[in-house]
Order: sequence, then structure tokens, then C-alpha cells
Amino acid sequence: MPFYMIRGDITKLQVDAIVNAANNTLLGGGGVDGAIHRAAGPKLLEECRTLGGCETGQAKLTGGYNLPAKYVIHTVGPIWRGGNRGERELLVSCYRNSLELASKEGCKTLAFPLISAGVYGYPKDQAVQVAVETIQSFLLTHDVSVTLVLFDRDAATVSKSLFTDISSYIDAQFIKEHADQGPECVRREVAFYRDAVKGMPMSAGVPGSQKEALSHIDESFSQMLLRKIDAAGLTDAECYKKANIDRKLFSKIRNDPHYRPSKATALAFAIALELDLNETQELLRKAGFTLSHFQKLDIIVEYFILHGNYDIFQINQALFAFDQSLLGG
Ligand code: APR
Repeated sequence: MPFYMIRGDITKLQVDAIVNAANNTLLGGGGVDGAIHRAAGPKLLEECRTLGGCETGQAKLTGGYNLPAKYVIHTVGPIWRGGNRGERELLVSCYRNSLELASKEGCKTLAFPLISAGVYGYPKDQAVQVAVETIQSFLLTHDVSVTLVLFDRDAATVSKSLFTDISSYIDAQFIKEHADQGPECVRREVAFYRDAVKGMPMSAGVPGSQKEALSHIDESFSQMLLRKIDAAGLTDAECYKKANIDRKLFSKIRNDPHYRPSKATALAFAIALELDLNETQELLRKAGFTLSHFQKLDIIVEYFILHGNYDIFQINQALFAFDQSLLGG
């Protein structure tokens, strides 16, 4: 199931379980711990008193009480002491043990705060990386939808160098004029695509060999997608997980040859299939879309395709950093 990142207050989320960044006593505190106890009400503390505390890296479950979430999973993150005292391993354990506990309890939706990234001082960008990598690897073998809730504006989801590199690329490519400002914009847009796919066999707007392309000209999006999944040697599950797409949505697409996906969904599959720019355009066109330099989201995805980086979680971290909607989900 998909992985989401949002900015917001975890106590407001209507999910099966929210995770609390607690301390070893489990008797409440500040930060998200304080917010969760305030929102849940006194019965949460009463139950926590019966748990006998919690080791760092471990996780324990209670009811959610007045929270919209059914359960609270309390985990205790490591205090940052410079990074050479096993902090990363303990933080990985927090996420993994919380995910295992949620899965054992039958939770289908789960939300995490950025554990240890507040009072406990874990550098936020490293905390995000640990969270994304640990959640991503768990989702390869489990069907649960996970949301990482970033409360602080300064919780960077990509490194400064990558942010700067993408920003320069956007500045170079983004066409600020509005699309309907006459032929000049359209000419620049067309010129862009001729440059961007330079050297790729492109005739009459049909990529690749003319004959092969024409044989698929009547294919629907769904038919092209399934053909490309087979051609890539992927199973359906491998493809929709790489696309950060929910199994149910994939089944809808598979079973309806005329299904029209959103642009974010079509792009997510292009990334999962590791298509080049030209093939991405071809797949998007089947869904009635095109990559465009009027959209920052498109330019960011294009940046990753041109750099050969098809990790949808990294792409989503970059989209999140630029306040764009995410792919898949
Ligand atoms: N929703 C989501 N995230 C939140 C919320 C909220 N309502 N409030 C705070 N956060 C974020 C913080 O901005 C930070 O990024 O949660 C992250 C974790 O910060 P802390 O709550 O300080 O937790 P942590 O760094 O793990 O320190 C735990 O702090 O609150 C005490 O009792 C807690 O002693 C324990 C220590």
C-alpha cells in the first residue's frame, strides 16, 4: 500500500493507529507526546501507567480514546548524541517495531511523526531518511498505508545540495507564461521536447520504430501499461509497489481497459517501469496528459528521469520539498 508524506497535526488523523514519540516512562511529556495525551484525554495516561514504561527502540500499544485514531503506538526514540552511539539502529527499530505491532493488530492505516527529531535532537534530514527507508522496505512485504506527518516547516525532505540542483533545473525549464499566451509559448514547449528527447527516434510524434509504435497506436492506457509491465519482466505487485500505488487501484486499472488514471498515477507507473522521457510521454498521452514545462511537478519528475533515478520515494520527497502533490497513493 502507498506511503504518503503530509504536513499537519497527527492528533487529527483518522487512521487505525498513530505513533507517539514518547519517553521511557510513557507518562507523557511535551512535543507530540503532549499533544497526543491532551487530545486523547486522561484515560490514555491511565492505560500507559499499566505498561511499566518502554525501552528505547521498542513499541507498545494502547487505545486511542478521544483521538480519531483507534490506537496509539508508543515508541521511544534515541536521544541524538552525535550519531556514533547506535542512534540510527535504535531509530530504525522504533519504526520497524511500530510497523510490526500495527500489522499484528490488523491496522491498515498508520501515521508516524518524525521520531526523535524534536526534543531528542536527531537531525531532521537524517531522521526523514531513516523514516522513509525503514517504511519503504516494510511496505515491500506488507499491505498497510503509512503516512509520515511532518509538523515543522523546516523538516527538510531532501538534502540541501539536491534541493539546490532541482531548483536550478526548475529555473532553467519552467515556462512562467500561461499556456494560452499564443504560439510563442507553444513553440518553446515543442522546442523543449525536441531538445529533451534529442537523439531519440521520434517521427511524426510517434517514438521508437514507426512500425512498432503504429502497431500500438489504438492501445488504451491500461493495455499499454500491462504490455510494458510484461516487457519489463515485472509482476503486477512489483509494479504497483514500485509505483507507490494501492493494490485496489491497480486492480481497477487492470480490469477496465478504458480506465482513465490521474496524471500522478500515470506518472507513477512511468517511474515504476523506468521509462525514458519519450516513453513517459507516450504512456501519459494514452491517459490524455503530457509532460509540460508549465508544471513544476512535471519538471521535477523529468529531472529524476533524466538523472536515471526512478526511486519514487525519493521523487516524492523532492515533490514534497517543493510543495507539489506526490506520485502514486
Ligand atoms: N503532530 C505531528 N508532529 C508533531 C506534533 C504534532 N501535533 N507536535 C510535534 N511534532 C513533531 C515535532 O515537530 C518533531 O518533528 O514531532 C517530532 C518529534 O518531536 P518531539 O515530540 O519533541 O519528540 P522527540 O524528539 O522524539 O522527543 C521525545 O519529547 O515530548 C517529549 O515525552 C517526549 O521525552 C520525550 C521527548
